Amino acid sequence: MIVAVTGARGMLGSDIVAEMDNRGHEVLPLGKKELDITDLTKVKKIFHRERPDVIINCAAYTDVDGSEDNPHLAMSVNGLGPRNLALACNEYEIDLVHISTDYVFDGQKEEAYSIFDSTSPLNTYGLSKVLGERYVTSLLHRYYLIRTSWLFGLSGDNFVEKILRLSEERSELHIVEDQVGSPTYTADLARLVGDLIKTRCFGVYHATNQGYTSWYSFAREIAALNYLNVNIKPVSSSARNYAATRPSDSRLDPFPLKETVGYLLAPWEDALSRYMDHRAEVDL
Ligand SMILES: NC(=O)c1ccc[n+]([C@@H]2O[C@H](COP(=O)([O-])OP(=O)(O)OC[C@H]3O[C@@H](n4cnc5c(N)ncnc54)[C@H](OP(=O)(O)O)[C@@H]3O)[C@@H](O)[C@H]2O)c1
Repeated sequence: MIVAVTGARGMLGSDIVAEMDNRGHEVLPLGKKELDITDLTKVKKIFHRERPDVIINCAAYTDVDGSEDNPHLAMSVNGLGPRNLALACNEYEIDLVHISTDYVFDGQKEEAYSIFDSTSPLNTYGLSKVLGERYVTSLLHRYYLIRTSWLFGLSGDNFVEKILRLSEERSELHIVEDQVGSPTYTADLARLVGDLIKTRCFGVYHATNQGYTSWYSFAREIAALNYLNVNIKPVSSSARNYAATRPSDSRLDPFPLKETVGYLLAPWEDALSRYMDHRAEVDL
């Protein structure tokens, strides 16, 4: 199978490229330099020439606070980008995997969001991702729309790295405790994507590591695993002056993931521990 990956140098994109390569697929890694997904002419030209069987879209503008100041950029990359890919997929009969986010929800449900729940984003980033979802689901039949959350992986800056870095600089960290979600390891998500595209069961999926936590408890787990000498204190999100409001509880119900691929992703604590091991191996 020929698999094209957009956003191929991002945190998730890098693991997707490695996973597809390991599975023996012919991989076409497209970083922003090779393909800016906001350029419809270039999108059509590349896919007309390369004719992949599937495109996995990992390209996105992921700066949640930055999106408040740059709404046009967010809408272009996260909204029009997936539209452009969907148009090319229609024209050249290519399957599309599109990655979306828990931030399409407002976090008020007080239980996990199912794939049937309506979106109601609280911030511009979430709105731009909803726009992308709408284009994909209205233009295509053969899509896998995968919502995930709180990603960490070897190829990008992420919360785990932030805690490790800050704990070297400070003796005390104040971490938000009134937002909960499911941390997810990009390597686990990449494996899931590899299995999902074999099923050809198209549709919407929620894919995260199992379990949930607050940013505060997540930070404490990172500190404990790494024997960090830092005092972690809880703060409320209102104490932070973030430009973008975030959902307070963005847990995602995985139905029908297990029914489709046969398993759920590992608990997030297990994923975090494997991430630390992999990180140490890379550092050697
Ligand atoms: N990170 C999370 O916690 C999280 C949570 C839920 C969902 N997601 C979703 O998961 C997906 C992957 O996220 P990630 O964390 O891997 O993001 P990432 O590390 O920021 O990677 C995104 C990649 O997209 C590239 N890109 C930006 N604009 C582009 C454009 N116009 N055309 C082509 N490529 C472009 C970026 O390149 P430059 O760096 O050169 O700009 C970057 O390499 C995204 O759809 C994101 O919305 C992420």
